[in-house]
Amino acid sequence: MSNPGVEIPPLSLANPFLIASGPPGTNANVIARALREGWGGVVSKTVLLDASRIVNVAPRYARLRFGEDIVGWENIELITDRPLGVWLDEFRRLRDDFPGKTIIASIMEEPSRDAWHEIVERVQATGVDALELNLSCPHGLPEQRMGAAIGQDAELVGRVCGWAMEAARVPVWAKLTPNVTDIRLAADAALGAGCQGVSAINTILSIMGVNLDTLAPEPAVEGHSTPGGYSGQAIRPIALRMVAETAALIRDRYPGRSLSAIGGVERAEHAIEHLLLGATTVQVCTGVMIHGYGLIHDLRRGLDAFMQRHGFSTIDDFRGRALARLTTHADLVRRQAQARAAAASSLREVKPLSSDTQWRAESIVEQSRGLADETLSDSGERHG
Ligand SMILES: Cc1cc2nc3c(=O)[nH]c(=O)nc-3n(C[C@H](O)[C@H](O)[C@H](O)COP(=O)(O)O)c2cc1C
Repeated sequence: MSNPGVEIPPLSLANPFLIASGPPGTNANVIARALREGWGGVVSKTVLLDASRIVNVAPRYARLRFGEDIVGWENIELITDRPLGVWLDEFRRLRDDFPGKTIIASIMEEPSRDAWHEIVERVQATGVDALELNLSCPHGLPEQRMGAAIGQDAELVGRVCGWAMEAARVPVWAKLTPNVTDIRLAADAALGAGCQGVSAINTILSIMGVNLDTLAPEPAVEGHSTPGGYSGQAIRPIALRMVAETAALIRDRYPGRSLSAIGGVERAEHAIEHLLLGATTVQVCTGVMIHGYGLIHDLRRGLDAFMQRHGFSTIDDFRGRALARLTTHADLVRRQAQARAAAASSLREVKPLSSDTQWRAESIVEQSRGLADETLSDSGERHG
């Protein structure tokens, strides 16, 4: 388990918004730009001991649009193809050039104790503030026994996190895959092994589409494809659910540990939703690839405006407020029955359908609309 006799310092951030591992943190130049622009910190593109194993293809992205808007993004990109030695120099240089800014190195290796010890030791020696273990990349790397090949096996997650913690002198976050039935199993294994936090989610396995002219799945490379990772706005509802499940586990069993939420953040409201469900920090990847590094200004302004509107002075004043309102379906039935009994006149209108016998084929659209919760519709584009 953790490195005996080593006191791991807590991580402190200028603001809760981090660049997520990916193209926006893929070399020292772009990381420097993010830090100058005002991001609370950067998680680097994932590094490993031997970058010669990494060979990318092009095209490697495919995008889902609604009109002009990009709502979903698939990638079959691997982790960094730049040598570890180059990265170590860049981490050191960034550390010197940006004192007080948070630099988190994302690392990946095979399930080998020696390999994890070596990568943890070499990377943390550069002075980075924390490490994020990539146990979750869903494409390409699992074929090499890395990424989601580890993250989809909770027992292995516990073992790998234990190895990382034996060598770590800085906080360690385990980045989890959503491509599992229950994300809490891996979260529990990582936190049980002593990680200071978890990050969730990485991308969701997907096939963006099939080209009806060429008959090839997309993105197509030489007429062929492979399932890739889905990100961007379209994954936010799934990310929010998994963040909430992980946050509840931390609240109940690992108080004080951290949760870095990732998935579908392109506006301040989206990040605030993650915080309301219990996240400690929020990471953004695809949002920066679509809107640029200046997105941080919208995020910070929007967070300030939200806090002012509600009279909150710190994020802790509202963190997890929505998590406390998540319950079981049986509890919703009980609450509604109580509310009906107590004050029938103040109930929200549920009349259109109080039993399944009332569904009518000719009014399926209107009846479905009548059962929708419209309360979110004034805060954004989302609920049609
Ligand atoms: C092109 C691309 C490359 C990525 N590369 C990495 C990576 O090297 N390591 C990693 O942990 N996650 C990687 N991710 C996953 C993101 O960090 C993030 O978990 C995911 O995209 C969901 O967040 P988003 O909706 O803000 O993009 C990548 C994502 C994209 C779109």
